[in-house]
Amino acid sequence: MEIIIARDYDEMSKKAAQIIAEEIKKKPELVLGLATGGTPVGTYRELVRMYRKGEVDFSRVITFNLDEYLGLPPEDERSYHYYMYSNFFDHVNVKPENIHIPNGVAEDIEEECRRYDEAIKEAGGIDLQLLGIGVNGHIGFNEPGEELMANTHVTTLAPDTIKANARFFNSEDEVPRKAITVGLGTIMKAKKIVLLASGKEKAGIMAELLSDNAVSTKVPASFLLLHPDVTIVMDEEAAQIYLEKKGEVRA
Ligand code: PGA
Repeated sequence: MEIIIARDYDEMSKKAAQIIAEEIKKKPELVLGLATGGTPVGTYRELVRMYRKGEVDFSRVITFNLDEYLGLPPEDERSYHYYMYSNFFDHVNVKPENIHIPNGVAEDIEEECRRYDEAIKEAGGIDLQLLGIGVNGHIGFNEPGEELMANTHVTTLAPDTIKANARFFNSEDEVPRKAITVGLGTIMKAKKIVLLASGKEKAGIMAELLSDNAVSTKVPASFLLLHPDVTIVMDEEAAQIYLEKKGEVRA
């Protein structure tokens, strides 16, 4: 596991964008797994900037998003469809037919999950998966529990997640209780994983993740300890408790 500690959010975002752009340069038809939430907004902003300067070309890139809220149509401003288009796809040259986001309003949700896994398989699997992390250690919407699912499935959001995501809604009550998410198997099969963490809210979970040697369904991100190619890019706030534990406090 490679750990990169960036000074602040902007530096974290630039570093993540650079890694993504380098992988696209190496493989223009990269299959890119994408994440939503507050953390990757800066990464998308930086990728858009690089695209405008001609530093990266997405014309052959295939994307698969991790998740979508159940019941929110693409035009709903709080959906991950809307997030992805407004933050990224509307500003770069990913071909519409190469964009994949689970459909949270599909008539047959089970079929939608199957279709999504099939599409990932057909594309040859994910080459590079971008991840955020929940305060409770979730990745995608794979929430802590007794067991984790391998494939795309419908999940119930954990209370911590509902609380954390309430900031994107008018109130906690409005946060959808369910979502479609790719499973741990899909994430673990990605050839390369980049996990981002920013801010002091993530310091506890990052310290737990990086100091523990244990893999547990109670901390879904801990499965990344088993993956051969994970890069963590976090800012100093997210790294603080981890660094304190290591005796490397940064002033
Ligand atoms: P955040 O969400 O980037 O909004 O903190 C991360 C996540 O829940 O995976």
